[in-house]
Amino acid sequence: MTTWLPTLTTETPEEGYELAVKLSRVAVKMTQPDAAIREKLRPEYAESFDALIASSQIVATHFATVAAANGYWRE
Ligand code: HEM
Repeated sequence: MTTWLPTLTTETPEEGYELAVKLSRVAVKMTQPDAAIREKLRPEYAESFDALIASSQIVATHFATVAAANGYWRE
């Protein structure tokens, strides 16, 4: 079975952060499946400081989950 989220485990914190961004973006895609609408809205949020701060916060929340799942990449 192919899955878009096979594991929360990542090699490095940086890869973990990329996964956090992916989790955030997938939620947007699931919530608004119409790509044309997402593309129409993109320029607006891309130039909105509060939308960008809100996006950063969502990524931060996911990153906290991913970091916990990886034991904070401690040796
Ligand atoms: C592009 C993140 C919310 C639509 C991007 C890119 C990032 C990103 C990092 C750049 C991708 C690249 O250039 O390679 C996020 C995060 C979000 C969010 C973290 C919220 C937590 C949204 C929302 C919409 C949207 C609300 C529209 C409803 C798009 C579109 C693109 C884009 C159409 C350009 C096409 C693409 O590169 O896939 N987003 N985004 N995003 N985002 Fe978002």
